[in-house]
Amino acid sequence: MLFRLLVLSIVIGEVLGEYKNYDGFKILEVNFENPRVKKYVQEFDKNLGFMPDFLGENWKKKQAHYFINKDSVEKVKTNLVANNITYQMRDVNPQIFKVRRRRDLNGAITINDINNRYLSYDEQMQFLNSISQQYPNDVKLQKLGNSFEGRSITAVRIGDDGSNKPIVWIDAGIHAREWISYNVALYLIYTIVSQPAYRDLLNSVQLVVVPNTNPDGYEFSRTVDRMWRKTRSRFTNSRCGGADANRNYPFFWGTQGVSHSQCSEVYCGARPQSEPEVLALTNAIQREETRIKGYIALHSYGQEILYPWGHTQRTYPSDVEDLIKVGRAMASAIQAVNNTEYNVVNSGDGLYPAAGASDDWAKSRGIKYSYTIELSPIDDYIGFSLPEDRINQVCREAFQAIQVLMIEVKSKFGIKHSTSSVSSPSAQSSLLLKRMRTTANRGFGRGK
Ligand SMILES: *[C@@H]1O[C@H](CO)[C@@H](O)[C@H](O)[C@H]1NC(C)=O
Ligand SMILES: *[C@@H]1O[C@H](CO)[C@@H](O)[C@H](O)[C@H]1NC(C)=O
Ligand SMILES: [Zn+2]
Repeated sequence: MLFRLLVLSIVIGEVLGEYKNYDGFKILEVNFENPRVKKYVQEFDKNLGFMPDFLGENWKKKQAHYFINKDSVEKVKTNLVANNITYQMRDVNPQIFKVRRRRDLNGAITINDINNRYLSYDEQMQFLNSISQQYPNDVKLQKLGNSFEGRSITAVRIGDDGSNKPIVWIDAGIHAREWISYNVALYLIYTIVSQPAYRDLLNSVQLVVVPNTNPDGYEFSRTVDRMWRKTRSRFTNSRCGGADANRNYPFFWGTQGVSHSQCSEVYCGARPQSEPEVLALTNAIQREETRIKGYIALHSYGQEILYPWGHTQRTYPSDVEDLIKVGRAMASAIQAVNNTEYNVVNSGDGLYPAAGASDDWAKSRGIKYSYTIELSPIDDYIGFSLPEDRINQVCREAFQAIQVLMIEVKSKFGIKHSTSSVSSPSAQSSLLLKRMRTTANRGFGRGK
């Protein structure tokens, strides 16, 4: 404990340097509604001779967003004009690159911190430690392995009573710059253990949450390079480090939507599971894969619920209707909070398929309900830098979606021995799910 306090005070005292400078970089926005334009951006690699950093897309406006290196701006513009592509290019939001102010931390990390700001990895771990001390019967911390730089990949097991209950597995932040995902995972842990209303659900379903699957990358994004996405592996004789851990899973590894070049943002690694973070996660999941019935990887941004397969296009698992149905119930639960719309769509049928992603791999291991959720926002200007005053709403929305998945897993695979009171939140979501089943494709509208 003393050691921890000592380490903590050093961390707090640390003075952060400047972020990596992105002056002159641009955000490129292209509307791809026109099939000719869609084909052009899908073949960006061929058209430009390199693949620009794809940030995300706005499914409502059918816009794709890319981060353009300042040395490539002129070349990209020339190519777009030559191909008669209408586009917008804008400066990046300077807010993103402001050095994060440090709070004067004198006490424990509380749910208020989770709701209001982005935490350091050490703060996240401190929060987990205090939760596990506060709820020793409900929360167990499990070390899955170490990151490349030696940080612990920690899983939080909730409602693990040694029984054979089905498991819903949630992991967050494999892409370092997608900061909101970490807060969503921590909020989930806190809320589900601290509110008695979820007892009943936890009696039937166990939850495993890995709130930070890429701690090295996250710390690097927080303190050095805000746009960092990959792990922090170093390679000999290379000027670039890190691999895209979400292209490093051992299922159709290295085939589509990846790069084998170490400097690429979507570098898939030298081989499947080359990244220690991915190895730790896959090993842990495989140890209990027959019990895991739900899997969600939390990412940002774009407000989408993605279902497999993602490694190629127009290819779906045989039970895809079930995945869509539950995906839509999750989207409705989100919308019921404050009318935020999430799109339920196949992972591979967007602009770019991506092989070696965790949701595909989880599905390939037999985990029935496997998804990737792209959290808020939907627009590129804010993108990965969701303002801190919007953290709480995104957490509350995602919580509802995860609860819907847990309830579905409970009703399909759960040990049935409990009764729920009609007014409990889980009963309400259960009702929502039932209604979704009967209203199929119709929109749900605002919740009550
Ligand atoms: C360029 O695109 C515009 C709008 O998409 C279209 O009206 C025009 O015909 C195109 N011109 C050429 C030369 O393809
Ligand atoms: C709901 O969303 C609106 C914007 O659409 C926002 O202004 C408002 O603060 C949100 N309400 C809550 C309770 O989060
Ligand atoms: Zn991501």
